[in-house]
Amino acid sequence: MNRVITVTVDLGKREDWTASERSHELRELAISCGTSVIKELIVNRDRIDPAHYIGSGKVEEISIICAEEKINAVIFNNDLTGSQEKNLEKIIKAKIVDRTRLILDIFARRAHSNEGKLQVELARLLYMLPRLTGKGVEMSRPGGGIGTSGPGEQKLEVDRRRIHSRISRLKRELEGLSKRRAMMRKQRTRNSLPAIAIVGYTNAGKSTLINALTSSNVIVQDKLFSTLDPTVRKFVLPDRREILFIDTVGFIDRLPHNLIEAFKATLEEVSQADMLLHVVDISHPKAKEQSDAVYRVLDEIGAKGKPVITALNKIDKVGDRALIDKVQASFINPIVISALKRESLDGLIAGIISIRAKP
Ligand code: GTP
Repeated sequence: MNRVITVTVDLGKREDWTASERSHELRELAISCGTSVIKELIVNRDRIDPAHYIGSGKVEEISIICAEEKINAVIFNNDLTGSQEKNLEKIIKAKIVDRTRLILDIFARRAHSNEGKLQVELARLLYMLPRLTGKGVEMSRPGGGIGTSGPGEQKLEVDRRRIHSRISRLKRELEGLSKRRAMMRKQRTRNSLPAIAIVGYTNAGKSTLINALTSSNVIVQDKLFSTLDPTVRKFVLPDRREILFIDTVGFIDRLPHNLIEAFKATLEEVSQADMLLHVVDISHPKAKEQSDAVYRVLDEIGAKGKPVITALNKIDKVGDRALIDKVQASFINPIVISALKRESLDGLIAGIISIRAKP
């Protein structure tokens, strides 16, 4: 297993999340990427150092920790430029990974379907491209004057061209899949099957909920979707009408824009759904902030303004009534449930029916 340390730079700005909360989340992300987090560092700075992001003293300190603790990678909670990454790697002598790359790696691990894999590859290439350019500027420097090529520049140009053409191919393929999805949606509408997209912050319990809901009913997997992300499951309401639950990718605060762009086809399932079921982990200390982050993504993908039912999940983990009341008060008509213990799922279904009944 990779031994890593995490570095969260606190630039002293007022933000929803404190540096230590952000550091904690990064730790969870790193763990879900299969690493072992040996140390979490928080670095206070007034401004970003253009060459190393952090000051040279701190870089030295990290390099010593890495040597002593046999660290394989240092994960930064911020976005680094290609040259900052290279400069840091040179001194620290461990792999440098920024937050976006970590999230891309997690998505890569979770992408099982062909579409998911194509989307992750696209996101990775979109992430790499500006980094190549950054390095190119540097590599061309030894070559001298304007118009002359540096030693690495020709190779770089070839790499860049190759990446551009792969990006175009992936976009074309994904467009094809997106059209297929649109056709399936049309078919569903024709069969008058309303679709409810389950959205929520990563780890909120979306998959647990969809399983809890659908396993207690006759599960009819939509075969066309079964090999493609996201998962679509049919659910029979008490009055025998049918609806579809769509489980989508989890959201996260500051979801890298490249991922949103690459996952357009998947996220269209959310923006085209008839309503949203927003799952919030009520036991999480940043439940409200996580919900705000979900709404920011919904806004970005054009899914804001749809009817939403909020499920405050994991109530079995919370003993503090005052806390429950406080979180509950910050949502409109939330339903408090436990997907794991299958508590209050009938109430949730009743809530869905009542929202659907509204004109
Ligand atoms: P992503 O795939 O990361 O977006 O996660 P998700 O939202 O699909 O969450 P998932 O269903 O995978 O659940 C995440 C964790 O929370 C798992 O360990 C679940 O067992 C746990 N969990 C889900 N619902 C509940 C609940 O009601 N109570 C408790 N105690 N744990 C729950």
